[in-house]
Amino acid sequence: MTEPVSSEWTAGEGDADERLVSARYTTDDLEIDRSLRPKRISEYLGQAKVKESLSVLIEAASGRNEPLDHVLLSGPPGLGKTTLAGVIANELGVTMRTTSGPAIERPGDLAAILTNLEERDVLFIDEIHRLNHSVEEVLYPAMEDFVLDVVIGKGPAARSLRLDIPRFTLVGATTRTGLLTGPLRDRFGMSFRLDYYATEDLEAIVRRSAGILGVQIDEAGAAEIARRGRGTPRLANRLLKRVRDYAQVRHSGHVTEDIAAEALAFFEVDHLGLDKMDVRILETLTTKFSGKPVGLGTLAASVGEEPDTLEDVYEPFLLQLGFIMRTPKGRQATPRAYEHLGLKLPGGAAEGQGGLF
Ligand SMILES: Nc1ncnc2c1ncn2[C@@H]1O[C@H](COP(=O)(O)OP(=O)(O)OP(=O)(O)O)[C@@H](O)[C@H]1O
Ligand SMILES: [Mg+2]
Repeated sequence: MTEPVSSEWTAGEGDADERLVSARYTTDDLEIDRSLRPKRISEYLGQAKVKESLSVLIEAASGRNEPLDHVLLSGPPGLGKTTLAGVIANELGVTMRTTSGPAIERPGDLAAILTNLEERDVLFIDEIHRLNHSVEEVLYPAMEDFVLDVVIGKGPAARSLRLDIPRFTLVGATTRTGLLTGPLRDRFGMSFRLDYYATEDLEAIVRRSAGILGVQIDEAGAAEIARRGRGTPRLANRLLKRVRDYAQVRHSGHVTEDIAAEALAFFEVDHLGLDKMDVRILETLTTKFSGKPVGLGTLAASVGEEPDTLEDVYEPFLLQLGFIMRTPKGRQATPRAYEHLGLKLPGGAAEGQGGLF
């Protein structure tokens, strides 16, 4: 008898969205998001500096009964940009409308959204770097003066009209601030960059999530998951879910350090949270190209990925760990990467570039 092949097994190995350790959003995160997403600033763990500044600004704006200044949130996927936008709206006591750069196709789409806002509402535009030019032009006066310039009629009879819109707060999110146009960036009153979380903060997030999901976990178990969570709450939550499944099937359900380590080894996530794809990238740089700098396109082709995905999804964490560096000639593995893979350093490898830590 032949076994039916489940689609899970046929998923491409190189597909970032199928990776357990991908920080990108997957359908699997839907349940996690619904139940675990913090609603108030007190539940939003870590990012102390960002929270502190925002709290002051939110209190000041609320005290004056004014809309909060426009906020730009940037940082790698899964660090809590969307969550923070929701927290801001909740703390202001207003409604949040959510849309995204690619979803707003025409200036009219944006005009419709803006005119339907209530005074002081939060408009959240995800992937704001992907707004098209004509839409962006409409956004400028809306952000600056809370007005819309509309053209009525065509040809010589056309005339332009200025409409007032409710005074709102735009919260924009982007994984790449570098891709935002200057004029748009300048119109944000404040800009916060979310950084990878410290292990202790991630541990607190794992414990909070375990409490909500009803997972029995001890401190060392939570710490083990946090250590492998790549500084990313979305990922730490996802690992927690998988460890919970493993603990339930192979053990009594209680998660200890040993069980967490065993489960994560089972799912092929190593002690730093690297998976097979990360290792493949590092091996390509160290072994296939003998430690020489490799261009992004070449590297992407050799590991079977899109250059954009490589840059947005894989690279940030490897850079953060100090395993790779960007040189004018391309990407290069650092001595740390060789050490992690248990390889000897070739003569041509970068020297004295130990990375960030
Ligand atoms: N500071 C935090 N405290 C607790 N949980 C958090 C925190 N930040 C994020 N999370 C959890 O991580 C998940 C992912 O966060 P979120 O969706 O806000 O990330 P994002 O930065 O918007 O990612 P993307 O760039 O993919 O849109 C959330 O569902 C939430 O459960
Ligand atoms: Mg988001």
